[in-house]
Amino acid sequence: MNTTNEEEIIPVTAHIELRAADERYTTELHNLVVKNRAYLQDYLNWPQFVGTENDTRQNILSNQMLHQRGYAKMFLIFNDNALLGVLSFNAIEPLNKTGYIGYWLDEKHQGQGILSRALEAFIDYYASRGEIRRFVIKCRVDNAASNQVAQRNGFVLEGCLKEAEFLNGNYDDQNIYARISAS
Ligand SMILES: CC(C)(COP(=O)(O)OP(=O)(O)OC[C@H]1O[C@@H](n2cnc3c(N)ncnc32)[C@H](O)[C@@H]1OP(=O)(O)O)[C@@H](O)C(=O)NCCC(=O)NCCS
Repeated sequence: MNTTNEEEIIPVTAHIELRAADERYTTELHNLVVKNRAYLQDYLNWPQFVGTENDTRQNILSNQMLHQRGYAKMFLIFNDNALLGVLSFNAIEPLNKTGYIGYWLDEKHQGQGILSRALEAFIDYYASRGEIRRFVIKCRVDNAASNQVAQRNGFVLEGCLKEAEFLNGNYDDQNIYARISAS
């Protein structure tokens, strides 16, 4: 748990770093969501519910509380101090040391390996601290880019969950991938 006011940062490369979500990033995050809202809505259910900047602030604050208590973790992906996306444990099962990973990236910054490199650093960070040993990605079978992220980063397909994800009026099948860390 991060008990001080010090910012929690996971370094990724000389340019990329993950910063724990904090209220100070509200405006930047809100603007990025609004900019990507139409694009993201094809992949995620929540963008339609983001209205005012205050919605984004409340989202950050509730995630920050879960982050501090260890039931979720929300990190913002920065590249040269510009916010480009989000990488999270949407949920953590502390007893099972299992983390359910979620992510999205600004549409214009995809195809450069930013998310994959961030994911490697994120996994290393939590595995080396002994907090998480089972890393899980669940993504719709039809989400090619997200399936690619899982496969590119050494996750193993464990199965297909039938009609497990509600998105834009349909219940879609979801692949479940996991990567077990030895440390
Ligand atoms: C899922 C998502 C984050 C993937 O973004 P991405 O940029 O494709 O992911 P990566 O960081 O793994 O980048 C991979 C691409 O960069 C390229 N690349 C370049 N340098 C690389 C490097 N050092 N390492 C890995 N890939 C690299 C790869 O070849 C690949 O390119 P391609 O898509 O043309 O094959 C993005 O598509 C997204 O935000 N989607 C909408 C939200 C979403 O679906 N979230 C997941 C819900 S389950």
